[in-house]
Amino acid sequence: MNHPAFKADPLTDIDVQAPAWVKNRKLIDWVQRIAALTKPSRVVWCDGSQQEYDRLCAQMVKAGMLRKLDESKRPNSYLAWSDPSDVARVEDRTFICSKRREDAGPTNNWIEPADMRTTLDGLFDGAMRGRTMYVVPFSMGPLGSPIAHIGVELSDSPYVVTNMRIMTRMGREVYDVLGTDGEFVPCVHSVGKPLAQGEQDVRWPCNDTKYIVHFPETREIWSYGSGYGGNALLGKKCFALRIASTMGRDEGWLAEHMLILGVTSPQGRKHYVAAAFPSACGKTNFAMLIPPEGLGGWKISTIGDDIAWIKPGRDGRLYAINPEAGYFGVAPGTSEKTNFNAMATLKENVIFTNVALTDDGDVWWEGMTDTPPAHLIDWRGNDWTPAIAKETGRKAAHPNARFTAPAAQCPSVDADWENPAGVPIDAFVFGGRRSTTVPLVTEARDWVEGVYMAATMGSETTAAAAGQQGVVRRDPFAMLPFCGYNMSDYFGHWLKTGARLAKMNTPMPKIFCVNWFRKGPDGKFVWPGFGENMRVLQWMVGRIDGSADGVEHAFGVSPRYEDLDWSGLDFTREQFEQVISVDADAWKAELALHADLFDTLQHGLPAALKDARSALERKLAA
Ligand code: GTP
Ligand code: SPV
Ligand code: MN
Repeated sequence: MNHPAFKADPLTDIDVQAPAWVKNRKLIDWVQRIAALTKPSRVVWCDGSQQEYDRLCAQMVKAGMLRKLDESKRPNSYLAWSDPSDVARVEDRTFICSKRREDAGPTNNWIEPADMRTTLDGLFDGAMRGRTMYVVPFSMGPLGSPIAHIGVELSDSPYVVTNMRIMTRMGREVYDVLGTDGEFVPCVHSVGKPLAQGEQDVRWPCNDTKYIVHFPETREIWSYGSGYGGNALLGKKCFALRIASTMGRDEGWLAEHMLILGVTSPQGRKHYVAAAFPSACGKTNFAMLIPPEGLGGWKISTIGDDIAWIKPGRDGRLYAINPEAGYFGVAPGTSEKTNFNAMATLKENVIFTNVALTDDGDVWWEGMTDTPPAHLIDWRGNDWTPAIAKETGRKAAHPNARFTAPAAQCPSVDADWENPAGVPIDAFVFGGRRSTTVPLVTEARDWVEGVYMAATMGSETTAAAAGQQGVVRRDPFAMLPFCGYNMSDYFGHWLKTGARLAKMNTPMPKIFCVNWFRKGPDGKFVWPGFGENMRVLQWMVGRIDGSADGVEHAFGVSPRYEDLDWSGLDFTREQFEQVISVDADAWKAELALHADLFDTLQHGLPAALKDARSALERKLAA
């Protein structure tokens, strides 16, 4: 797309004036090239300092993009309201532009790289006119760690800069690690709203045309038209999942949409668990859960809440790091009761996006307190009262409203959360949001069965992505929107990783499948969830140690009522039956959906998974 209003402007090259501490020639040349293309009025090399952060926030407050919250209630914190059209990831505008279409696979949007480059050249030509282009150097993973990787995002959004400073290790130290010839993943981002001379900026600039583009072979990211979350904070889903998953495929490691937690038993034995749930399906909550009193002193510690990079160690175990430095978490539903640790993390130094503003300069969202305040300004800037909500159904906060907060502020943060070597994983957990069919917890009998479970996982869609909500779709490994290459090859990569581990002299991580979201006839969740999920985790640890019993069924092993510890919770056998039962007819229908998925993915689908499906079908018939 051209910007006709600017056609007459002269194409002047601007001097990007790299500071003396930037010594990477490739980086400077690239910044020069992108500046020449996008034509910003100014280039700022970010140093990641607190002063820079404060200055950018103050500037955004002045421009009306941010609102400073009351300093005594929420120190050093801000609220942003996005354009109502720019509130979530846009999966149908997300592209994997590998050279060969089959390398992107049937679940990704693909456009021939040369064609996409032509499109991008047009879109980005002059896209930053009238704006500042920020150079944002960041490390995914602890600075200088052998598992970490560096990226540089060029963005015309100060909101992106400040969020990236919380979400990644961002700043001057990154240049030191880069040195003169270090490698980095180049990420170009524009909100796609150039400003003519003297033109007043809008509160949240963005463009109806959106492109979130990845070139896996050249490890490049280009994002146009959105300023929100995973569309714009390019270290997160674009780099740490889509690009990193292809790096992992090539180099023998895994980049996953997983939280990482530590679970310590009352006897002091510690295990690490990595769990993949689709967007807005409970990762942040599970990573920070507080075990119920009465279970006798279990402890959960948090390594990460969204992304895990996992590498095989020489000892035959898998080691995981959290490549991020902050949480970009779902606000609605977060309360002192459901996620105390998140609420404590949000006390200060937070950027809130699309939550409601209280009359005393603080924030509120649905589910934060039982009784909503009598008056709010909602995320669209309108008056909101409980009566208005009742009458119109209008939410005070957008369902995908988010907080951006430093991980170090979380009370449950694990002592090893920044350990550059990572933590050894004892179990993988996969879970979807399913109101029917899928039991509370099932243990896979072996690695292949676990990979099958993860590969065929379904989940009801949520507000984290634009589009229809609440419809069940297959979301293999919770990676459907995030795998940077062919999903069948990705399954193969997991199977290969398992085969490699099996040769070593250490126990393989166990694989479990969970579902917190079964509903009763009244349409309410039967399982209490949140902290009570500890009971399921406790059973998993028991299975790892060999101390917990279960019963085998067609799909694996699940606990009987008496296999879980119910101390301190009133949950009846009948209720348990509602969340654990396997209905043969429902599962026949489910297996048909697995078959549909496999049809879609047939090109390169590992035979072991087809065999696993046939075996399940036979077991179910028996
Ligand atoms: P992303 O950041 O989008 O990847 O989401 P996430 O997987 O981290 O999800 P999060 O923990 O933020 O939870 C999303 C929503 O699910 C919130 O509204 C939670 O309150 C709700 N939720 C989380 N855990 C549970 C649970 O155990 N039971 C129920 N019923 N709801 C839950
Ligand atoms: C998700 O959608 O899975 C998120 C939020 O964690 S975003 O950063 O927008 O991807
Ligand atoms: Mn996520």
